[in-house]
Amino acid sequence: MTIFNLGSINADIVYRVPHLPSPGETLSCGSMSRGLGGKGTNMSVAAARAAAHVVHIGAVGQDGVWARDRLLEYGVDTRGISVLDQDASGHAIIYVDDDGENTIILYAGTNRLISTQMLEDSLVQAGPDDTLLMQNETNAQVEAAKLAAAKGMKVAYAAAPFQAEAVEAVLSFCDFLILNEVEAAQLQEATGLAPESLPVRDVIVTLGAKGSRWHQTETGECRDFPALPVDVVDTTGAGDTFTGYVLAGLDRGLPMAQAISQATRAAALQVTRLGAADVIPDLKDIQDDIS
Ligand code: RIB
Ligand code: NA
Repeated sequence: MTIFNLGSINADIVYRVPHLPSPGETLSCGSMSRGLGGKGTNMSVAAARAAAHVVHIGAVGQDGVWARDRLLEYGVDTRGISVLDQDASGHAIIYVDDDGENTIILYAGTNRLISTQMLEDSLVQAGPDDTLLMQNETNAQVEAAKLAAAKGMKVAYAAAPFQAEAVEAVLSFCDFLILNEVEAAQLQEATGLAPESLPVRDVIVTLGAKGSRWHQTETGECRDFPALPVDVVDTTGAGDTFTGYVLAGLDRGLPMAQAISQATRAAALQVTRLGAADVIPDLKDIQDDIS
């Protein structure tokens, strides 16, 4: 079974700042680092670290070949990643303050240049045992969802960064939806539907430091999973880590509750580390490092 992840690939440039800058303020930062990121990439790496077979579908510019190579190094199948000439690779300028909170400025670049041909080529061998995963940092989600549905694949969608129209356009194809509290409220405003009423079998709402809530919409059941208390260094990529782990767990045949428990541990450990994809723990880390 394979997770095909249509997802962004970014260079993350991270500045540690004493506080998030205000308009007009000039702020010196204590440290700067570069790393691998992008919501899609973080999810691919998390799922691979959680022992899933992941094919990443995406695009980088000539300046992003290192990112594709690093994904490969991290155990992700990179055959679905194209190197394009038309634009620079995606990148994110990230400020992280002393409390571990962040703000992110995103340049999509080649992440927005996914073609139908690229999707068709990448999904040629996909079938009913496989899952398509998507977020909102690329184009072509609706096309991908239609292709996947035609092949009988399961469709999982992390609605971040939130855009109401994008979510509404793919909702009817989704078997699994994951979104945070703010996104759930925005979706409810746009559609009038609370998470438990969405036309999606499993909906997980992440609640930051409070953990997460899983809604099984068919039975109306809902279950809470508290977060683990940790010293927060950098929350960047924690939600993505959670999503990648949940999907990998399901792909490995774990019941949802167990997949969420592992994902909760992985996300907790990820926030204690500065960076995104480069610091996602593997299954052994989460067994050893958190009790
Ligand atoms: O979710 C975190 C990610 O958002 C970062 O890695 C950055 O690249 C942005 O896409
Ligand atoms: Na982190």
